[in-house]
Amino acid sequence: MTTLTDEERKFLIDLAEQARRRAYAPYSNYPVGAALRTRSGRIFTGSNIENAAYPQTMCAERVAVFKAVSEGERDFEVIAVVTPNGGSPCGGCRQVLAEFGLDTVVLIARPDGSLVQETSVADLLPGAFTPIDMGKTPG
Ligand code: THU
Repeated sequence: MTTLTDEERKFLIDLAEQARRRAYAPYSNYPVGAALRTRSGRIFTGSNIENAAYPQTMCAERVAVFKAVSEGERDFEVIAVVTPNGGSPCGGCRQVLAEFGLDTVVLIARPDGSLVQETSVADLLPGAFTPIDMGKTPG
């Protein structure tokens, strides 16, 4: 699994916080930001985008993942997630991340930049159902 320097952590968490400030979360008032780095070095950010029809809301992590995949990048290395209180990625986002590899590092941080947890998709989603279960190669 990737080992990050403090500078890399700070850089990604800062980008996630900037994305968090672009969140559209008028219903929950719980803005979330994410910054996803691929092994090629590209970074894709995301923020949660809510909707008056609540279920149409999209989480920050999935916005970042979908931006990356739609740009041809599926080899994820690390995702930083900033939530108002250091809350952890939801189950749906864990599953979407698992599709593209269990080794992705997950940094969970607060808006002031403090790191709450450094973990991995494998640890966040034990026993994940993955492409292997469908006879496919991950990613
Ligand atoms: N949210 C995320 O963006 N990511 C998560 O992993 C947890 C939840 C968003 C969805 C909704 O807009 C708000 O946070 C409250 O649930």
